[in-house]
Formats: sequence, C-alpha cells, structure tokens
Amino acid sequence: MLSREENELLCRIGPGTPAGELLRRYWFPIAVATELTEEKPTKFVRVLGEDLVLFRDKQRRVDLLADRCSHRGVSLLYGRVEEGGIACAYHGWLYDIEGNCLACPAEPKGSGFHLTVKHKAYAVQKFIGLYWTYMGPKPAPRIPKYDVWVRKDGRRKIVVYPLLDANWFQAMENSVDPAHLQILHQDTAMRGRTPVNTTRGFTDDIEKFEFYEIPHGIMKRRYYKRGAVDEHPLIFPNILRQGDATQIRVPMDDTHTFIYFVHFIPGGNGDGDGEEEPDVLYMPPFKDPPNGLHPFTRFRTDLVLAQDHMVWETPGPIADRTRERLATSDRGIVMLREIMMREIRKVQQGFAPIGVIQEPAQDVMIDTKLAESLEEMKARGQPPGGQVTALTEAERAIGRS
Ligand code: FES
Ligand SMILES: [Fe+2]
Repeated sequence: MLSREENELLCRIGPGTPAGELLRRYWFPIAVATELTEEKPTKFVRVLGEDLVLFRDKQRRVDLLADRCSHRGVSLLYGRVEEGGIACAYHGWLYDIEGNCLACPAEPKGSGFHLTVKHKAYAVQKFIGLYWTYMGPKPAPRIPKYDVWVRKDGRRKIVVYPLLDANWFQAMENSVDPAHLQILHQDTAMRGRTPVNTTRGFTDDIEKFEFYEIPHGIMKRRYYKRGAVDEHPLIFPNILRQGDATQIRVPMDDTHTFIYFVHFIPGGNGDGDGEEEPDVLYMPPFKDPPNGLHPFTRFRTDLVLAQDHMVWETPGPIADRTRERLATSDRGIVMLREIMMREIRKVQQGFAPIGVIQEPAQDVMIDTKLAESLEEMKARGQPPGGQVTALTEAERAIGRS
C-alpha cells in the first residue's frame, strides 16, 4: 500500500514532476516513421504530458516542436512545411528544427524581432521504423542497442496497440506480476488445456517465481514444475521483453499510454540493422465504445492483450494504491516501485538513472536476457563487456536512504 503522496510521485509525469524528470532521461518512440508523408507531413503528439507536433520539412528533416505557436497559440499541426522548417498557418512565424524563429512576416522589414523568439523543440531520431524523441537535458544519451532492436539476423515488425486509457505504471507493474498469466490468461495463452478449476487456472503448474535486479531493469523468472523456466526482463523504465518482442509503453500523459510492440523475427534474409522499414500492424480497439472508460465501455476478453488492457484500465486512470492489499505474489511490484523511487532520487541528486547510455564505449549491443544479477557482477568485480555499468556504491546508497 502506498500513501497518496507516494502514488502521485510514481505516476505524475508532466514537466517538473519527479517521475517526469526521471523519464526525461530516456528516449521514447512517438510515431511510426511511415505516418509522416509528403501529403501529411505533420502529426500531433502528446508525450509526457506535453502537446507537440512532429513534422518533416521540405529537406526531409524531422523534428518535434511545441504544438502551440509562440505568437498567439495556434496549433502548428496546421502549419505549412517549408524548406527551413514549419510556418504557422496564422501569421507565418517560421520555426526551424531547433525551435529558432526564422521569420515573422508581418513585422516591419529589418526589425529583427524574430531573433528574440525561441520555440520549444525536442530531438528526434528515426530508429527501427519509429520516430523517437528525447525530452531531457542535453547532451542526449544514445538509444540503447538492445539486442532484439539491432540484431541483423532477422527482421522486425511493429504492432501499434490501441491507446491505453490509464497511467503507464499500471502496465509496468503488470510486467513484474507473473502470477497473473496462469489465471487471467488461462483461456487464451494455454493452448486449449483445461484447468483444474477456473479460479486457480494453471497456478499449480508453477514451482516458484524469482526477481532480481539487472543493470537495465528487473529479471523476472517463472519456474515450472515440469522444469521449464520463463525469463521476461523488465527493461527500465517502460519496456517488457517477452520472447523476442519488446513491449514499449510510452506515457502520453498521466492517464493515457501508447503501446508499441517491436517483434524481432530471426531468420529470413538477415539484412535487418535497425535502419529498415518494418511491417506495421495497427490493432483494432479492444473495447466498445473505443473511447469509453470503465464502466461505460466493455472490453473483449478473448485475446491475451485485451485481457491485459482490461486489468490495466479498470483500476481507474490512476490506480488508487492507498487501498490495495499487496500479497506475497506482488513482491516484483514492490521491487519495481523501490527501483523507481531510487532512480527518481538519483536524478534529483544529479546521477544518471539506470539504462542510460552516455559513453561511446557503452554504445554496443546489450543482451537484454543476460541473466547475471548485479550482485553476481559485483562479486566478480566487473560488469561484463557490453553491459550497462552496474550501480556504484554511492548510487546504491541512494536506494537505501
Ligand atoms: S499564431 Fe502563429 S504566427 Fe500568429
Ligand atoms: Fe498479461
């Protein structure tokens, strides 16, 4: 159970909030690259609670600017893209990809007024068929080269899920809640088996669960009595790896979350390198009406992800964690909250949070399924090559304070 203040601290991600400042140290995908075209070179995007416009200028440079024009607030979604940037439809204030104002056409000739205008702009990069943004302090880190994003021995496919009408952290808590698979998904993920009863589902298949911290997040392990082991790492702060897929949850604002899946499919012609244009699938809505909130909508529950959306949304747009009753099976959730709080404090104290790649030497492929824990690494005295550096003692102390 959390206090109201702790719940707010975890969930609020707008500018200036502690969790918002933490999340602004990471890159987030904000659009499928093919969504910007010659005919439609602008797209409205809300991310981390900020209203922005993604656009491609006539030199095919892509950037993200604050939606509301610095002059009198008209949306740049309707701006005209030019050689040098985007011009507001209303009075033509022209912004380049850095947010510099290049012209204010209705001002007297030679006034230089435009030189006094600076518009908010964020870095954009195209990677694995998506546009990504970084909204934090400069210099921007690298987009991590997680193995399934950069492996060349296969291809990738993107699936865009319906907008989740709930806070992003609800989906992340689910990623360290392995017990739900055998119950919630008993009729969708178990290949037609019949459970002993529908209350227990397939809970009796499981020997135990294990969670431990790894350099880029939390390893979650599910041990089956028959000897198999599942490993689904949570890549901090907003990604679940499941099999060769990554589920990327992007906080749109406090109560809405975009979800992109990037599937890696090994084999084929093997020319994938993170620069390709993957196939894209847009999933139809999971609920009817699609924009309704519980209880004024009804979810379909015959698909694994639709079941997940149901359990992520029905606790409310921001789950009230002052009323929960955590149990033994929730210890992964407790761990995630503790890491989140620790990383918030680290950023407040000027440290980089886990998983942020600043050094060129660290900008190499990262095996997200590496099973070695931080404790094991420490015992060996060295983080293995290619891994994000393990926490320093000072950083760990922040977590204990
Ligand atoms: S409101 Fe944009 S130029 Fe006037
Ligand atoms: Fe699930």
